[in-house]
Amino acid sequence: MASVILGILLVLAPLPLSTEAQTRSNLTLGSSLTANDRNSSWLSPLGEFAFGFRRMGRGAHLLAIWFEKIEDKTIVWSANGDNLAPEGSKVQLTANGGLVLTDPRERELWSSGLNGTGLAYAAMLDTGNFILVSASHVKLWDSFSRPTDTILPTQRLDLGTKVNARYSKMNYSTGRFHFMLGDDGNLVFYATPDPYDASDTYWRCNTLGRVFQLIFNQSGQVYLTTRNGTVLKLLTSSTVPTNGFYQRAILEYDGVFVQYIHPKMANSSSGWPMGWSTVSTPVPPNICTSITQEIGSGACGFNSYYTLGDDRRPRCQCPPGYTPLDSTNEMNGCIQDFVPQSCNGSRPETDQFVLREMLETTWDRSDYEHSTAQTEDWCREACLADCFCAAAIFSNGFCWKKKNPLSNGKMGPWVDGKALIKVRIHDTTSKCTKNDQKKNKNTTMMIIGSVLLSCSAFVNLLLLLITYLIYRSFRSRDSKLSRQVQINQVIGMRTFTYQELHEATYGFKEKLGRGSFGTVYKGALGFEDPDFVVVKVLATRTGESEKEFEREVSAIGQTNHKNLVQLLGFCNEGQHRLLVYEFMSNGTLADFLFCASRPSWYRRIEIVCDVARGLSYLHEDCSRHIIHCDIKPQNILLDGSLTAKISDLGLAKLLMANQTRTTTGVRGTRGYLAPEWFRNMPVSSKVDVYSFGILLVELICCRKNYEPKAEIEAQIVMADWVYDCYHNGSVLQLVESDEEASRDIKRVKRFVMTALWCIQEDPALRPTMKKITQMLEGAVEVPVPPVPSSFMSSI
Ligand SMILES: *[C@@H]1O[C@H](CO)[C@@H](O)[C@H](O)[C@H]1NC(C)=O
Ligand SMILES: *[C@@H]1O[C@H](CO)[C@@H](O)[C@H](O)[C@H]1NC(C)=O
Ligand SMILES: *[C@@H]1O[C@H](CO)[C@@H](O)[C@H](O)[C@H]1NC(C)=O
Ligand SMILES: *[C@@H]1O[C@H](CO)[C@@H](O)[C@H](O)[C@H]1NC(C)=O
Ligand SMILES: *[C@@H]1O[C@H](CO)[C@@H](O)[C@H](O)[C@H]1NC(C)=O
Ligand SMILES: *[C@@H]1O[C@H](CO)[C@@H](O)[C@H](O)[C@H]1NC(C)=O
Ligand SMILES: *[C@@H]1O[C@H](CO)[C@@H](O)[C@H](O)[C@H]1NC(C)=O
Ligand SMILES: *[C@@H]1O[C@H](CO)[C@@H](O)[C@H](O)[C@H]1NC(C)=O
Repeated sequence: MASVILGILLVLAPLPLSTEAQTRSNLTLGSSLTANDRNSSWLSPLGEFAFGFRRMGRGAHLLAIWFEKIEDKTIVWSANGDNLAPEGSKVQLTANGGLVLTDPRERELWSSGLNGTGLAYAAMLDTGNFILVSASHVKLWDSFSRPTDTILPTQRLDLGTKVNARYSKMNYSTGRFHFMLGDDGNLVFYATPDPYDASDTYWRCNTLGRVFQLIFNQSGQVYLTTRNGTVLKLLTSSTVPTNGFYQRAILEYDGVFVQYIHPKMANSSSGWPMGWSTVSTPVPPNICTSITQEIGSGACGFNSYYTLGDDRRPRCQCPPGYTPLDSTNEMNGCIQDFVPQSCNGSRPETDQFVLREMLETTWDRSDYEHSTAQTEDWCREACLADCFCAAAIFSNGFCWKKKNPLSNGKMGPWVDGKALIKVRIHDTTSKCTKNDQKKNKNTTMMIIGSVLLSCSAFVNLLLLLITYLIYRSFRSRDSKLSRQVQINQVIGMRTFTYQELHEATYGFKEKLGRGSFGTVYKGALGFEDPDFVVVKVLATRTGESEKEFEREVSAIGQTNHKNLVQLLGFCNEGQHRLLVYEFMSNGTLADFLFCASRPSWYRRIEIVCDVARGLSYLHEDCSRHIIHCDIKPQNILLDGSLTAKISDLGLAKLLMANQTRTTTGVRGTRGYLAPEWFRNMPVSSKVDVYSFGILLVELICCRKNYEPKAEIEAQIVMADWVYDCYHNGSVLQLVESDEEASRDIKRVKRFVMTALWCIQEDPALRPTMKKITQMLEGAVEVPVPPVPSSFMSSI
């Protein structure tokens, strides 16, 4: 085959070869390079390209060709991606083997081989081609005819040439995607499902028997030609002027073929960003719809799913309840975070699981059962009750049950129907350790809703009193711990300078909200792949000393749970006190619940459980027991996958001083306050339980607890009405306009009873958050709740 290629080259390209001959600087037989820390490479005459070793990690080197003049020295060809060379390896130009790569013990790792004899010299050309030539100017080998994943202008691929994508962004091993200019004259893109050997074509050019070459010409076009040179099909078509730009086209590790350009001059006046920019529609235009593997995971790895980015390149993501198998390679699939459902028939665990809804999502294949003419509800119940069911796909009355591992996942507007993915409610992984809940940062960040913190003079007065009491009850413990805490306080928390945060928020430009605790801005940390954050500028200096402030902040920072908004760091500089939190792309629960269209019953169940778990952790698991004091929908935020997280913990305590003058209306928060706030009684974690009870009522009914404009007088205070309905045995009335909830009436009733326990006037009667979590999950029976005192009494 190689002889065919060379023959063709010799016939077709005598001219390029002779022009190349004028610009090359020759490498003589015996020339060598050694892989070590010093840069060793052979440059092309104008220094555009270099051939040599690139360090891939500790003592591992890749023999490669790269763009020498641009900052990231993009690699365009490599020899030994599957077999990296250790420190001290050598590549040498030999008469018999051509280029030979040997390790320090002289064992051969790779060699170019030679087609023919009489090697005279080698040269790195300014086109990016590395050639081995005989004394009679016959090309005995060149890198252009053995591409790895990249092709360059002037490169031509002949029939039988295969291009292999790399394994991942930074791993040059052979990956799972390939394209081949087949001997049958067709261009075919295919994926090999690792580790199986079958292959699946995901894109093909219908040019069977006609294609002769694939050409990347100097003006930036990549196209297929016939034997007589007629253009058959354009693969990419760049419309930008390519003068003054470097170009390359690459089969990316995610399976799409993309063409890029990069300005040559650092001071290029074109306004083009420095770096590689996509200039053509990728092939295939939508890999998410084109790829489906019968055997194998699909492009993203098992249990994962595809979405298409703005650049029309795929993004792999894990569904809720799953995390990436390998955090360095998102295409490696995902694993369940939870213990799978037990198949012990006498203990079906149906209550321990919920189905999370993912719109416009499907996993092709991996189905084991299929029903037609069913309702979504039937589909849900069938999957929940079946321990083999990992997810159900519901679409137009069709219900598919899927088993693990899920394959060929995709999400996008072209998908008909929705996926219902099964996750365990009970969070077995939430422990009070620092690192157990590092969140998956892949979630798409969007604009947050408001992080309004409404409060009032009245509430603040109370907070003052309460926090004093809390403070007093903690003081003895604190003095014992303080030394220890001060030593540990900085661990895991980042301190920022004011300047840094000023820059991160572009000068406090994007305001997200304003409350009595301060003003909240959106910001971004890092330039390459910025993480969005929320920066809270605390309203006024508190009376605390620096030390106290930092100790409080670090106590908050030490909480780490997936249902708490993570405090990432703080700034304490003169007058400036700022807190930096992770960014929650879906805004507040208040907006989600009351403003937008009503979230589904199952989504609400998950939110209830999320909040209960977060609070339970704060009260019981965490090393310092923390009372939140201000649980309300405005303080519950939702992240990209709609996981609920409690925000602003500890702020009430932190900001106890100087917070007595605010003008916000009282009603917002007041509806959530436990009676003991008004009665000069000691305050315990049970105040949070009370507020949670109100929140639960709101989540059941999708309505604010206090609604003075309600048409029916009995419904002005929802909590009262909920009790009436429960008492009259008409719980169904609470959710009558909510089909999903009505069908799940057993759970609705359990939730109502739990809520009634939470809002008992006597704090001692209210269960602990841990108990409540069990009640909600159905792990314990909920006893009949006593009559709560009229809610009106506390208004
Ligand atoms: C080697 O070169 C000859 C012509 O010199 C050509 O016919 C043959 O196909 C080439 N083989 C390979 C493997 O390139
Ligand atoms: C490279 O070597 C060839 C063959 O020996 C010779 O014809 C050519 O002039 C040399 N080129 C340079 C730039 O030295
Ligand atoms: C290695 O290459 C870099 C960039 O090309 C250059 O700045 C540096 O001085 C080189 N180091 C050595 C030891 O040659
Ligand atoms: C690249 O990926 C392959 C396949 O998983 C693995 O065997 C190899 O160790 C990786 N190489 C590096 C440098 O991480
Ligand atoms: C490159 O190919 C395109 C499309 O066939 C053609 O219009 C253009 O003239 C070619 N450029 C060169 C330099 O051959
Ligand atoms: C090239 O071949 C195609 C068929 O493969 C034919 O239609 C076309 O006319 C030919 N063009 C030239 C210039 O010979
Ligand atoms: C900047 O551009 C000018 C002309 O546009 C050129 O002469 C100069 O060499 C460039 N400088 C660098 C560092 O590329
Ligand atoms: C099934 O569950 C029941 C009740 O929890 C238990 O007694 C039994 O041992 C379990 N059987 C198996 C095979 O685990």
